[in-house]
Amino acid sequence: MDKLLIVGGTPLSGEVAMSGAKNAALPILCASLLTSDPLQLTNVPQLKDISTMLRLLGDMGVGVTMDGVDGMVLDASALTNPVASYEMVKTMRASILVLGPLLARCGEARVSLPGGCAIGARPVEQHIKGLQAMGAEITVEQGYVLAKASRLKGARICTDMVTVTGTENLMMAACLADGETIIENAAREPEVVDLANCLVSMGARISGAGTDIIRIQGVEKLHGATHAIMPDRIETGTYLCAAAATGGDIRLTRTSAAYLDTVVDKLLDAGCDITVERDAIRIRAPQRLKAVSLRTAPYPAFPTDMQAQFMAINCIADGVATIRETIFENRFMHVNELMRLGANIQIEGNNAIVRGCDHLEGATVMATDLRASASLVIAGLVARGETLIDRIYHLDRGYERIEEKLEKLGAQVKRVH
Ligand code: EPU
Repeated sequence: MDKLLIVGGTPLSGEVAMSGAKNAALPILCASLLTSDPLQLTNVPQLKDISTMLRLLGDMGVGVTMDGVDGMVLDASALTNPVASYEMVKTMRASILVLGPLLARCGEARVSLPGGCAIGARPVEQHIKGLQAMGAEITVEQGYVLAKASRLKGARICTDMVTVTGTENLMMAACLADGETIIENAAREPEVVDLANCLVSMGARISGAGTDIIRIQGVEKLHGATHAIMPDRIETGTYLCAAAATGGDIRLTRTSAAYLDTVVDKLLDAGCDITVERDAIRIRAPQRLKAVSLRTAPYPAFPTDMQAQFMAINCIADGVATIRETIFENRFMHVNELMRLGANIQIEGNNAIVRGCDHLEGATVMATDLRASASLVIAGLVARGETLIDRIYHLDRGYERIEEKLEKLGAQVKRVH
């Protein structure tokens, strides 16, 4: 199993390009199931989660042709097998995103329930309830969701909580339904908007994406399209934090600050200087950061996917910060690992109280989930001496060529096989 060896203490400097967004690419790959025409995508990140999704789609009969470094063409004209097995879904929860498109296009689907996950229970009952409201007959047998519908019907759906993949699944299903679907309490995440933009270029009739009410007027058929995946706002935020923690000065290109308002605001509060360009961001960090408190919540509030990285920067900031996690019930797995590096963190329910220390010391730590791993990388970059991060397969799920990008910024990072 690969590990990452980091020698901390070098301020990051220089320039690096950001990749396409994992959480936009995953639903958009599933959107290919909605048409028998080719869907051409660019700026697709090369990540483990993407190759898992391509394997899942391939098993269903979707043809995948790679096109250059970050492009591909998906062809679901010969969709034969509307099944997502437990073996696939258990390795990647986002596999549930095939449920809506399969049901809409094939009239049936057999998709494994994802089961629990390191960061929380993460049930999918809102996806199921929404599809039932659209007329699907759904049963759960032997851990599988069995769904049937001759043609889905438009419906008014109000989800109990804001759910990103739930909104995406229902929006995709509604594209081919008979009549209008209204999704209330919809997720407003930029990735939902990127998916909607792709669907619209495939002929879908969607309005309101990016607000909490999305209206979809069902059509008979979708057609092929070309779409460029949006930049990864969480990868961008992670590199900004790495620069902030190390007292660095970096410029991130092929990205946008447009969806990072709350993250940029917190970095400004921490004392960083940030310059926003049309498709680049530069950050210059002070000698010592100021502690910044935050509370995670659905977009446009502070993203849960950036919570762990801000925990890491608060560990070495001046002052005390309170970090409140409101989306997932178990997303503090990185705390004990950060404490192995010398951090002072106290957990009280869903609050973490972080008292900044003047330095961290390298140690061996274990990655537990994707964003927790990112926080350990940031802590390792700032710690004195060597930090060895075990189980970095979590990182490979969501950060493209991370050691190469960090090395480009001057960090001492090595993958150990
Ligand atoms: N929830 C339910 N029932 C449902 C759906 C959601 O109780 O039917 C709960 C979840 O358990 C959670 C909350 O609602 O407590 C929000 O979950 P959501 O459904 O929004 O999460 P998700 O769609 O499974 C996506 C991202 C996550 C990101 C969350 C929150 C993808 C593929 N994943 O997950 O990304 O943390 O939204 O923004 O888009 C990551 O990239 O590291 C990651 C975990």
